[in-house]
Parts: sequence; C-alpha cells; structure tokens
Amino acid sequence: MEKIKAVRGTKDILPHEVNKWQFLENKAREIFSLYGYKEIRTPIFEEISLFVRGIGQGTDIVRKEMYVFDDRKGRKLCLRPEGTAGVMRAFLEHNLADNSITKLFYTGPMFRYERPQAGRYRQHTQIGVEAIGSAEPSLDAEVISLVYNYFILAGLENIQVELNSVGCEKCRGKYKDILKEALAKNVTAFCPDCQERFNLNVLRMFDCKIPECQNFLNEAPKITDAICPDCQAHLAEVKAHLDLLKINYKMNPRLVRGLDYYTRTTFEIIFSSLGSQNAIAAGGRYDKLIHELGGDEIPGIGFAMGVERIVLALDSIGKKWPEMSSLEVYNIAVGSQKAYEYLFELTNKFRQSGISCEIDHRQRSLKSQLKTADKLKAKRVIILGDQELEKGIVLLRSMNTGVQREIKFEELFDLVKKEVLP
Ligand code: HAM
Repeated sequence: MEKIKAVRGTKDILPHEVNKWQFLENKAREIFSLYGYKEIRTPIFEEISLFVRGIGQGTDIVRKEMYVFDDRKGRKLCLRPEGTAGVMRAFLEHNLADNSITKLFYTGPMFRYERPQAGRYRQHTQIGVEAIGSAEPSLDAEVISLVYNYFILAGLENIQVELNSVGCEKCRGKYKDILKEALAKNVTAFCPDCQERFNLNVLRMFDCKIPECQNFLNEAPKITDAICPDCQAHLAEVKAHLDLLKINYKMNPRLVRGLDYYTRTTFEIIFSSLGSQNAIAAGGRYDKLIHELGGDEIPGIGFAMGVERIVLALDSIGKKWPEMSSLEVYNIAVGSQKAYEYLFELTNKFRQSGISCEIDHRQRSLKSQLKTADKLKAKRVIILGDQELEKGIVLLRSMNTGVQREIKFEELFDLVKKEVLP
C-alpha cells in the first residue's frame, strides 16, 4: 500500500533534532522572564474576521495564504497565520489591560499557504512577544534589545537589525499618495500582483518578492522623508535609545512589513547568509490594532521569531547544541526470569525517585543489551545474572571508565541514588 507522507510545506521535527527546538524555547522563556513577560496560549484556529480586520484585506496573508475552512456549523474559521491578532483578541476578551505594560509571550505553530522553499514552510514555529500599553519610544528600543539579546545569548552574533517607521494613519495616507503619483506612469511595468496592490494598497507593493519590481521600488520616494513631525520625533527617540543600548541598526526605508496593523516603528533581524528567507525575526508597533479589534486606543509593540530559520542559522555556524539528557542507569538481566523481575522492579524504583532508567523487555544477550546501553548514552549499567543472583550482588559498571564493581543488593539503590542525586 502507498505510504502517506507529510503534507507539502510541513516538516516533522524528529527526536534527534528536537533538542534544538527545546533549547531555543527554553532560552526564550529564560530571557523573556528577565524582561517581565508572561506566557499566553491562544487557540490555533480563530474566526477569519479576526485576521481580515487585524492583518488587513489587502495583504498577501489574507488574500492568498490563509488556511480557511467552515466548521460543521458553518462558522468561517482559519488556522492562525500569525500570533499577534489572536493575542490581542484574548487581551480584550479577558480584560488583561492593567496600569502598567502588559507583557505577553507565546510559542507555537503558524500556518501560511506560501510556496515552500528552504526556510519557508506552510507550518512554521514562532516565538513572539507583545508589550501592550505604551507608545513610548523607549519601549520600542527595549523590545528590539530583547530580540537582539536573545540571539546573542543563543549564540547567533552575526545579525543585522533593520529599522524603519511606517508613520501613523495621518501621514501614511499622504505618503501613499506621493508613492502612487511616483509609480503611476510605470505601473504597467510591474507584475500583475503589484498592479493589483497599486489599487488595493500601494504600500503592499514593497512586499513583492520579484526582483524587477523591487528594482523599480528602489527609486521610489522614501517613507521616512514623508512622515509627520511627531512620527519623525518618535523615530529619532527610538534611534537614540538604541544608541544608548549600543545596538547597531541599519535604516531600511522599504521595510513596511506584510501586515497592515503596523504604525511607526517596524524592524527585522536579518541573518544574511540564509539567502532569500533571511529574516529570523520581525516586528513593529501597532498603536491602532486593539481599537480596530473593538477595544480602546491602546498602543503596543512586539515581534516574532521564526524558529526553523534560527535553527538553520545556528546550524550553518556549527552551533554545539546541548545534548539530550542522557540515561543514568541501564538495567541488564541475563539468565533467569527471577533476575529480570528483580531489575524490572528496581527500574520502577529508580524512576519513582527521579532517576532515569531503562530495561530491555526482550531480555536479549548481554552483548546486545550493552550495545543498546551505549547507544542510549547510559552513564552506568547494572548487570544481574544467575551467578550474581545467587550471591546477592549485581555488577555496577561505569560506561565512562569501564570500571566494574560488585555491589550488594541491600546497598545498590542508595549507592546509585547518592551518585546520581548527590
Ligand atoms: P512575520 O514577519 O510575518 O511577523 O513573521 C515573523 C517571523 O516568522 C519571520 O521573521 C520569520 O522568521 C518567520 N516566518 C514567517 N513566515 C514563515 C514561513 N512561511 N516559514 C518559516 N518561517 C516563517 C508576524 O507574524 C508578526 N505577528 C510579528 C509581530 C509580533 N509583530 C508584532 N508583534
């Protein structure tokens, strides 16, 4: 019968590599807690309208990339393409606003029907944060410093912070007019998608991945030249605070990001040797999003990192990932059923005391069991055959040194426990 394969654009994370994901998630929890972030877990599917209102009708994500479906009652749902809208929905639904800044983080899968390639999947994993309740530019710098410090502490140093401001609802409209006017005479030279973007939301033309379209846009007026004095001042303060934190950044006036909810600050963290999918994290400010979703005017800023891309980046520089936790004891019974039963019970006793322990249920030869113990990276093995059983002892062998000792039954448990949990 034909075997069923994983769906195109999805990927299994296998036991021998899951330590990389665990390392990155644990590191995030560790660092996020230093900055006061608390975890939130929102559902993987939501109403489509959340993303249409949150991310924007004219974006590639909403137009082409969402996994949408009707449930059995005809509700219009979709798999979440990103985390911010769902977190804002939960923030409003559960009145999470308080007097200080509400700091939330999340990890989990996101789904986008994109063309799969290295570093781009239809299911990918994000680790993200959202800081809700302040429009102060120092918060922008703090959030950028958080993602920056995360990469440094995770061992990825060769990164570039790209920064831009997309202005506010007032000045962005003016910039769109300037951009439209500048592009109007050449619009037919752009790809059909861009021509559609020109009419829907001209800013979205910057999302196009086709090099010819990008080349035309290089000549276009810069958004940072068109934003209002308040947005200019906000950007200047963000930069000043980044300077204070000694974080290098490069201005990228084309960084408008593929989601409509951004206002003012946008940023990306680039690891350039990843090729075309080189954004390992990205984010920005969204001062109107909560209002757009039915709440008060509460500003916020956040980012999300792409875990698969970070794994690729760290692998490319030869990162030494932490080893999987190794096995403390491997119990080997050879000979009678009695020896096996003794070790079967001992295995349970070790586990109950918090000591990792394995036993071969098939009772294979000593040689095969030693081989398995080696493969499992067991630190020690306990060998019990009929001869030892008769004498009331076991052989305790250190797999590191090869030293083997005879230990009396009554001393064994306490001795191993003392070695493992001193
Ligand atoms: P985003 O730029 O769409 O932003 O995604 C964040 C990160 O997720 C990207 O920088 C990239 O590393 C990773 N990523 C995105 N799509 C894929 C994919 N198809 N395959 C692999 N990795 C991918 C957001 O989602 C915003 N919600 C970020 C944010 C949070 N803004 C404010 N708060």
